[in-house]
Amino acid sequence: MGLSRDLAQTREFFTSRAAGWEDRHPDDDVLFRWAVDQLMLSPGDVAIDAGCGSGRALPPMRAAVGPRGAVLGVDATPAMLHEAARLGRQAISVCAIGDVGRLPVRDGCAAGILAAGLLPHLPDPAGTLRELARVAQPDARLAVFHPIGRLALAARHKDRGAHAHDMNIDPHRIGPLLAHGGWALELLDDAPDHYLALAVPNG
Ligand SMILES: C[S@@+](CC[C@H](N)C(=O)[O-])C[C@H]1O[C@@H](n2cnc3c(N)ncnc32)[C@H](O)[C@@H]1O
Repeated sequence: MGLSRDLAQTREFFTSRAAGWEDRHPDDDVLFRWAVDQLMLSPGDVAIDAGCGSGRALPPMRAAVGPRGAVLGVDATPAMLHEAARLGRQAISVCAIGDVGRLPVRDGCAAGILAAGLLPHLPDPAGTLRELARVAQPDARLAVFHPIGRLALAARHKDRGAHAHDMNIDPHRIGPLLAHGGWALELLDDAPDHYLALAVPNG
C-alpha cells in the first residue's frame, strides 16, 4: 500500500532536515529529559516514542526503564532513523520505520508514550491518538510535547513552508481532541518556551 499524501509530504519535509536535526537546537536535551520525566516510567516498563525522529528522547527513556524495560521509537521518515542510527540510538532501543497510526505492538503494553513534535503533522490526530490508546496500559501516561512554545512553533512552520496542522495543539482543541482519541487531559502547560499536554487513558 502507498503512503497517504499527507504522510508523503511529511516524509519529504523531514528527509531534507534529518541530517544534523539535533544540532539546530543543542540545548533542548534538558526539556526532553523533563518531558520524559513526566511519563513517570519505572524500571521494566515499555516506553514508546511516537514520531521519534532522530531519537532524542530515547536515552532518557532507556535510563528510566532500565535494562529490563523496552524502548520503541517509531518514525515514518527513514532519513530520521538513519540519523538516530548515526547517533547510536539503535543500541539502546528498537527503532522502527512506520506510521504511528498503526503501531507494531500488542494492545495495552506501554506504560508511557511520548509524542514530541508530532501532533501538528497528523491529518487525523484523533485516529492516531486512538491507536496510541490501544497500545497503552490502563494507567499509562501520554505526553504531547514540543520543546518550543506553540506560537513560535506555528511561526516556524509558516516560515519553512511545513505541511502542519498547528490547530491540533490549540489549548481549546487539545482536551476535546484527546478525549475523542481515548485520552483524558490531566495537565496543560502552554508555556512560551515549551508545550506539554499530559493525558491518561479515559477508557
Ligand atoms: C518535528 S519532528 C519531531 C521528531 C522528534 N520527536 C523530536 O522531537 O526531535 C516530527 C517527526 O514525526 C514524524 N512523523 C510525522 N507523522 C508521522 C506518522 N504518521 N508516523 C510516524 N512518524 C511521523 C516525522 O517523520 C518527524 O520525524
